[in-house]
Parts: sequence; structure tokens; C-alpha cells
Amino acid sequence: MTNVCDYEGSLYRYDFWEGQGRDYENLVERIALRALLPPVGDVLIEIGAGYGRLADLYHGYQRVVLLDYARSQLEDAQAYLAHPERYILVVGDVYGLPFVDGLFDALTTVRVMHHLADVPRALAELQRVIRPEGVAVLEHASKHHLKAIGRWLLRRQTWNPFDLQPVEFVELNFDFHPRWVRQQLIGSGLRPEAVRSVSHFRIPLIKKLVPSHWLAALDGLAQLTGRWWQLTPSVFVRARAEKPPSGPPDGFFCCPVCRSADLTPQEMALACGGCGRHWRSDGGIYDFKTPLFSP
Ligand SMILES: C[S@@+](CC[C@H](N)C(=O)[O-])C[C@H]1O[C@@H](n2cnc3c(N)ncnc32)[C@H](O)[C@@H]1O
Ligand SMILES: [Zn+2]
Repeated sequence: MTNVCDYEGSLYRYDFWEGQGRDYENLVERIALRALLPPVGDVLIEIGAGYGRLADLYHGYQRVVLLDYARSQLEDAQAYLAHPERYILVVGDVYGLPFVDGLFDALTTVRVMHHLADVPRALAELQRVIRPEGVAVLEHASKHHLKAIGRWLLRRQTWNPFDLQPVEFVELNFDFHPRWVRQQLIGSGLRPEAVRSVSHFRIPLIKKLVPSHWLAALDGLAQLTGRWWQLTPSVFVRARAEKPPSGPPDGFFCCPVCRSADLTPQEMALACGGCGRHWRSDGGIYDFKTPLFSP
């Protein structure tokens, strides 16, 4: 088992975003996502979607899955989203996704990778569920940004921002070197094809002096330099799944324990024909974390 950063019961929407002076960060992340994600498609999943902050960006997709490890985040999404019924809300773990192979045309994950203790294992799962040549847009926190470099040069930070290995600065909070992430993506069969460096102006004084939408527009231009260098605290990468062509996906959900796609809807549950577990599905949420019943 890999440890997971548990947001169950967290007030992430209010404690981190709303009224917390992060309009700029929200705007620049939306610019990057819009620029990198194909605007239309069939099935899209956001992994670690939280309360659905970015979900309105996926309106060009026929089916949109918002997956999170914390059921309470998805319950918050039901309150936050204008039309929660348009989304497929799924409680699950990135290390064992409850979907059949090659299901998704597109996949996004923003502000999640920095909580992952086992990135290669998570990337292997992403690669499994995405279709051949499908697109993944992944955001990661970077250790190789100007503030960290300055702090290190002034000896006010012990870890080296140029060292490729991830740094865990607080338990289950990691910063990654963009080159290390690139290596991991390639090693997992996800071919990087575009990079945006994001949040150039995450500096309290500048954020105070310049209106957020101006600063965000400026960052949108500066993001293009990501193809040459990455010196920002956040980096977005678009990668394509390299895998042999395959037929259409064989189903939709699969049991995260035995991988069987034989899941029979019952009252308030999906019963797995493979291992007999029952996965809760009520209140508009499919829950593949803790089985209601295990044989
Ligand atoms: C910092 S929040 C970001 C939420 C959203 N992506 C956003 O940017 O507003 C991180 C989210 O990742 C989820 N998460 C962390 N580890 C996870 C895992 N192993 N599988 C699925 N979700 C995970 C948390 O529950 C939390 O909602
Ligand atoms: Zn099963």
C-alpha cells in the first residue's frame, strides 16, 4: 500500500481557494489547461478533481469523470457544480483506478502529483486507462523555480533545486524536477509533447499591486517559454499515450481489486462478478474505495 494524502473532511474549497487571495493561480492554471487540452472528445477523466474547481473546462467532452480519493470532496463538488448530474463522480485511488484499459480520450490531473509518494506507479495506471494516442495533461509542483534557486544559493534552503530527485518538504508533499518528471513520463509510455511553465508572478507584492486578470494574461504569454526552460513553481505537461492500437474499450468500470469488468448494478451497489465485492453507488457517487461487502 502506498500512503495517500487524505483530504477526507477537508474544507479545501474554502481554506485554500475562495477568499484566500489565489485568483491569479486559479486563472493561470485555467489558461494552461485550456491551451494544452484538446477542446472536444468523448470520455475525459480528471484525477484528484477535488470539489470540481476546473470541471467547467471539460464541457466539450461527452462524458466527464471526476475522480477523487476523498468522498467528501465529491460531495462538495455536488454542491459547487451548477449541474453535478452531468458528471460521473467516482471515489477511487490513482494507484488502482476502477476503469477498464484504454477508456479515456483525455486525462487531466492538477495539484495532485505533489501528493504522490510513488509517481511511477501512478503514471503506470494513467497509461493503462488512457487510449492509444490519448492525451494526458499533468501539472506538477517544481523544485526548480527561481525562489528555490535563490534560497539555495543564499544557503537558506538545505535541498538542492538542481538535483533531479524529488524533495519531500512536508510529509506527502513533494516538489519535482521537471527533467525527472519528463524521465518518468517517458519511462511510463507517456510521450511529452508540450510544456508550459506556470505561475511566474506568484509573489505576494506583485499579486497585490497588479489586478489578477492582467497578471494572469501576462503569465499566459510567459507560459510559452516552458518549451525552453522551466523556472516556475508549477509546470504543466501534455503527454500522449504510447501503446499499440487496440479495439474499443471493453466496458467502463472495473473492480479495482480483481480488475473484473463484470459489475452488476444492484440497489445502491455494483456487485463484482470476479471477486464478489460490492462497491457502493448511491447519492450520485460511485465509491470504489471501501467495499460495502467483501466475501
Ligand atoms: C490539492 S487538491 C487539488 C484538487 C483539484 N485538482 C484542484 O486543483 O482544485 C489534491 C486532491 O488530490 C486528491 N488525491 C490525493 N491523493 C490521491 C490519490 N491517491 N488518488 C486520488 N486522488 C487523490 C485529494 O483527495 C485532493 O482532493
Ligand atoms: Zn472484484
